[in-house]
Amino acid sequence: MTSTATEKTTAAAAGLRGVVAAQSAIGDVNGEQGILIYQGYNIHDLAEHSTFEEVVFLLWNGRLPKEEELKSLTAEIRANYNAPPAVIAMMKQFPKDADPMDVLRTAISSLDFYDKDGHGTDREPALRAAIRLTAQMGTIAAAWDRIRNGKDVIAPDSSLSIAANFLYMLRGERADADEERMFDVCLMLHADHELNASTFTTRVVSGTLAGMYGAVTAGIAALAGPLHGGANTNVMKMLIEIDDPSKVDAWVDKALEEHRKIMGIGHAVYKTEDPRATWLRKYSRHMGEKKGELKWFEMSQRIEQLMLEKKGMFPNVDFYSASTYYLMGIPLDLYTPIFAVSRISGWTGHILEQYGHNKLIRPRAEYIGARDLKYTPIADR
Ligand code: COA
Repeated sequence: MTSTATEKTTAAAAGLRGVVAAQSAIGDVNGEQGILIYQGYNIHDLAEHSTFEEVVFLLWNGRLPKEEELKSLTAEIRANYNAPPAVIAMMKQFPKDADPMDVLRTAISSLDFYDKDGHGTDREPALRAAIRLTAQMGTIAAAWDRIRNGKDVIAPDSSLSIAANFLYMLRGERADADEERMFDVCLMLHADHELNASTFTTRVVSGTLAGMYGAVTAGIAALAGPLHGGANTNVMKMLIEIDDPSKVDAWVDKALEEHRKIMGIGHAVYKTEDPRATWLRKYSRHMGEKKGELKWFEMSQRIEQLMLEKKGMFPNVDFYSASTYYLMGIPLDLYTPIFAVSRISGWTGHILEQYGHNKLIRPRAEYIGARDLKYTPIADR
C-alpha cells in the first residue's frame, strides 16, 4: 500500500535514527566509511587548504568563491563584528555566573531587535542576517567571558579573521600564527554536520517561516545539551577528574560498570573514526608538546584505546577538541559556545536552504496511549 500525506508510515526508530527527514546539498556524513563532505568537498581537503570564511561561502552558495567574492564576503563579515551596544549593555546586567550558552542564546535572540534589514525569508535579507549572526556569535561569546570576569570588553579587530578575532577578543592580545591557523581549522571542522540535533532544530523552526534569529536561537538551545555540543566541556571535566594517566584504566572500568557514558565517545552516525577527530587528535598532541603538558593527550589516547577494545566505539569531534582548547587556555564552559561560533555557518546554510524550498516540517507520532476512556468528574477520581 502506498502512503498518502495523511496516512502514517510507521518509522518508530528511536531518535529517528536512519530516517531521512530532508533533502540537502549542504553536507553529507558517511558513517560507515567515516567521510564528511561539505557541498561535495571532503573535510580533509578543506582542513588542509581552506579557511573558515571560505567554508562559510561554500556552505551558503554551494561552490567555492572566486577571489573577489571571498574578499567581499570577508569584508561584509568583518564590518559586522560589532554587536549592538544595547546587547552588550544588556549582557552586563546578567548574573556573572550565568552559563555562557544561556547568555549566547539570550543575546543572539535579542540581535533580532537591532537588525533593520535582515528579516524575511527571501534570500537577500536572510543572507544579511546570516552574515550578522556569523560575525557576532564570536563577539558575544568572547565579550561574555570578559564581562563575567569584570574585564573591559575588547572591541573586535576588523583586520582579523573570525578565528583570530575571537581569540583576540577573548585574551586581549593576538594568538600566535600557529594557534590562529589551528583554531581556524577547528571552526572549519565544526561548521556543518548534516541533520544533527541543532541543525534539524533550525530547519524545523525555519520551516514554519519563522525568522532566522529565532531559528538560530533554537539551534543554540539544542546545541547546549550534553549529548550534543555540551559533550566537549564534559570531556575536559572528565580528564580533570581522572587527572593522572595511571588512573585511566580503573576510571573507565568503573564508569562502564556503572553504565555511565564516556563523553566524547560514540556517535549516532559514525561507526568508524570520525574524520574530524583525526585532525583534533593531531592538534591535542601538538598543543601538549607545545605547552610541555602531554598528559591530557596521553589520557585521551588511552581512553580512546580502551573504548575501542571494550565497546568498539570511536572518539567523536568533542573528544580531542577538549584537550586542544584546554591547552589554548580557553575556559571549559566556552567550548560549546565555540562550537556555535562555527556551527552558525551550517545552521544559516540550512535555514537558507529551507527557506529556498520550504515545506512545513510536521511529522506524525505513533500513538501508544490509551483510547476510548470515559471522562470521570474530578470528585470521583
Ligand atoms: N560511553 C559508554 N557507552 C556508550 C557511549 C559512551 N560514550 N555511547 C553509547 N554507549 C552505549 C550506551 O550506553 C548504549 O548501551 P546499551 O545498549 O547497553 O544500553 C549503547 O551504547 C547505545 O547508546 P545510544 O546512546 O543509544 O547510542 P547512539 O548511537 O544513539 O548515541 C551518542 C550516540 C553520541 C548520543 C552517544 O554515543 C553518547 O551519548 N555519547 C556521549 C556524548 C557525546 O560525546 N556526544 C557528542 C556527540 S558528537
